Amino acid sequence: MAKYVAEPFKIKMVETVKMTTREERIEKLKAANYNVFGLSSDDVYIDLLTDSGTGAMSDKQWAGMMIGDESYAGARGYKKLQSAVEDIFGYKYMQPVHQGRAAEQVLLPCLLKKGQICISNMHFDTTRGHVGLLGAIPTDIVVPEAADTFNYAPFKGNMDIERLEAKIQEVGQENVGLIIMTITNNSAGGQPVSMANMKATYEIAKKYGITLILDAARYAENAHFIKSREEGYADKSIKEITREMFGYASAFTMSAKKDAIVNMGGLIGVKDNEALYTMVKGWTIPYEGFVTYGGLNGRDIEALAIGLYEGLEEDFLRYRIGQMEYLGDCLRERNIPFQFPVGGHAVFLDAKQILPHIPYYQFPGQALACELYIEAGIRSCDIGSYLLDLDPVTGKQQQSEMEFTRLAVPRRTYTQAHLDVVVEALEKIMERRDQIKGYEIVWQPPVLRHFTAKLKPVE
Ligand code: F0G
Repeated sequence: MAKYVAEPFKIKMVETVKMTTREERIEKLKAANYNVFGLSSDDVYIDLLTDSGTGAMSDKQWAGMMIGDESYAGARGYKKLQSAVEDIFGYKYMQPVHQGRAAEQVLLPCLLKKGQICISNMHFDTTRGHVGLLGAIPTDIVVPEAADTFNYAPFKGNMDIERLEAKIQEVGQENVGLIIMTITNNSAGGQPVSMANMKATYEIAKKYGITLILDAARYAENAHFIKSREEGYADKSIKEITREMFGYASAFTMSAKKDAIVNMGGLIGVKDNEALYTMVKGWTIPYEGFVTYGGLNGRDIEALAIGLYEGLEEDFLRYRIGQMEYLGDCLRERNIPFQFPVGGHAVFLDAKQILPHIPYYQFPGQALACELYIEAGIRSCDIGSYLLDLDPVTGKQQQSEMEFTRLAVPRRTYTQAHLDVVVEALEKIMERRDQIKGYEIVWQPPVLRHFTAKLKPVE
């Protein structure tokens, strides 16, 4: 039987959530045009839309907010954050920014030029967007195991090293502007990258004189997976593993809204390249504000400096990944397919297998997300063909290789009983899955449609 790792904390403050009836949810979903982003959060019982900025801060973080220094320049919190970044990641330079995509907006133009290729194990949507905005070409080179949702592999987030080197040789090293290693690999299902793979990728980058950076939103979860799955790391501390991981890159961008457990915040780190750091500071001022606050309140910076450490605590990570494993084990006991093993921040349900009668152009991942809301007020989201915009050249619907419905679990927010509600809802959906209909889009914007498109069930 699935085992739950008990919380390494107790609850000091609670937030009431509203219970709704099935009839009400059917109405609310219709009013939202069958788009979960259109739902009011007051009408959601368990919100698994994202783990980003939705975690619960600790008493220490809240206490830190009270001593936040709001000075425009030279605020105290900046120094504290600087020393945390140096201590944890071993990087000499850092720049706070307001979130992950802001870090991308500031750092990527310093490293990538128009027409160049940017290679990643998998680009997150906003990273792909920023690469595209620079006129560069994003290319994903993830290992083939990532597409096999059934069989176990410990590091499905890895870069495919052979294909990486072949690609560099094929296009010419001068045409590859940048390599981005995303840890964990969100788009592949929150799957981790092994230390051996990070090292091998860094060596290839060095061999061809290409800069390698980390997209480090879920650095601590990745470190936990290395500790528990990779030979030689069981006795190392999470902090030691983190230090080693960051050694295999020259810089990083980070959405601190994930593993650093703040509601808003981001970071850029530069290992030792002073010229690059000077450029980063130069761009931060027009985009984000003066370097010592970088788009954040002084109190946010204080909470971030504390959160960076809390995210690394081993008892916390055991419980955190334990929640995901509990959810995954419950689903396996009931033969409900998902990307196996579970990721660090989410369980990615395999909607293609759960709803095999719904073709990709009727969005099985979206259909399952709608059912979860109707069944129990659970909000999730499609990571499949619905998420893909129309092909910009042909105007046709693109087909995603995987059709997922993502259950992203906010940190320190939901209990075992909440996860049981999710499992029970899925069990009921499985019983009536043949009757579930696909969806068609009745209106969509030209890009990033999944946030605002209007849909209706196919008759
Ligand atoms: N990189 C990764 C791997 C991410 O998962 C995200 C955000 C970002 C960058 C951008 O960071 O949101 O702070 O600007 N992921 C969220 C998610 C939105 O739901 O997976 P941001």
